[in-house]
Amino acid sequence: MSLNIDQDRLLSDIETLSSFSEADPPAVTRIVFTPADLKARAWMKTRCEEAGLTVRHDAVGNTFARWNGSDPAAPVVGTGSHIDAIPNAGKYDGVVGVLGGLEAIRTLRQSGFRPEHSIELLIFTSEEPTRFGIGCIGSRLLSGTMSPDAARKLTDNDGATLDEVRHRACFGGELEQVKLPTGYYKAFIELHIEQGPLLGRQKIPLGIVTKIAAPASLRVLIEGSGGHAGGVLMPDRRDALCAAAELILAIESAARGSGAIDTVATVGICDVFPGAVNSIPSRVRLSVDIRDTDLQRRDVVMRALESTSAAVAAKRQVSIQTELLNADAPADCAPAIIDALSQSCRQLNLNFLSMVSRAYHDSLFIARISPVAMLFIPCRNGYSHRPDEYAHPDDIARGTLVLAETLAALAG
Ligand code: GLV
Ligand code: MN
Ligand code: MN
Repeated sequence: MSLNIDQDRLLSDIETLSSFSEADPPAVTRIVFTPADLKARAWMKTRCEEAGLTVRHDAVGNTFARWNGSDPAAPVVGTGSHIDAIPNAGKYDGVVGVLGGLEAIRTLRQSGFRPEHSIELLIFTSEEPTRFGIGCIGSRLLSGTMSPDAARKLTDNDGATLDEVRHRACFGGELEQVKLPTGYYKAFIELHIEQGPLLGRQKIPLGIVTKIAAPASLRVLIEGSGGHAGGVLMPDRRDALCAAAELILAIESAARGSGAIDTVATVGICDVFPGAVNSIPSRVRLSVDIRDTDLQRRDVVMRALESTSAAVAAKRQVSIQTELLNADAPADCAPAIIDALSQSCRQLNLNFLSMVSRAYHDSLFIARISPVAMLFIPCRNGYSHRPDEYAHPDDIARGTLVLAETLAALAG
């Protein structure tokens, strides 16, 4: 099939979507169900309808834009990603998979291709964990990985429940309805920026993902004793921030010492109370994010966190409580879709790298109910989750072309 991706239309869509943001450009901040996210969703819906797709959403706001195949009862060939963005992010994470997916479908429609299987673009709700503390809420519910009861217990940073927040955003209905029926998908492909440096360093234009790493995240609450920064003598201190510092370095050292480059650990939030220059920190909250492609190796780091917490708590006379938010298994991509993507690359004479994804994606959860694969394009210096995240237009168009060819091959 000879397809022409409309690169200008795709880039202009990426620019427009980046304007729905709470941050000054080039930064993008688009937290789920905030006004910026709702405006972006409304614009996406119009864009999908203009492309001739039928749009529906479920109770948690996952949005499906469908191109009916000649056999509407046949399992769906899906593609998509997310449009929410963490604070101070860039404009490509998730967006390339959503707008690239839409462009792939528009291109196929314009080429005269008629699919047998319906092709659906899926925009997942809250891939990012910013608001509710846990990522991939939409795909966890779609795949049955998170129960509706567990979802109802989620609260945002201001204490509002997921139900309150989604109802305010006009997403009604029962969360029980979100889970997709078994066999819904024939295949699901997510196009995404690599969010790492390997493709760029090796000057390879595409990555075909074979495995998605297993993420875990925890909250840690450290309570010591506050007081006057001048008056309290050093031997009498129970400084919560000093305890946190020891813990943070121990987490880093456990990840570095795993023996594998795929083990990564990050403390991304450190909230210090009361946060005054002349007051001893009495309370610290940490967020901990630990990932690995190998579950056992990741869990060694989690156990190191537990044992160091106990040791630091005893030594410094502070209390340390850890709350596990999620500890997910890794996912393998489906050989048949990997083959289909590889075949498209070969037909287009494009070199590709087989690689793992150390970032998590909604595909990690969709993999539990469907064969999935992911296609990566390079991003400059591997930068992501920062305003200078950048993907070259040629790379975006190339990824979109391979996606379109593969969707066509799978949808028949
Ligand atoms: C997704 O944004 C991740 O943190 O991997
Ligand atoms: Mn992200
Ligand atoms: Mn993403």
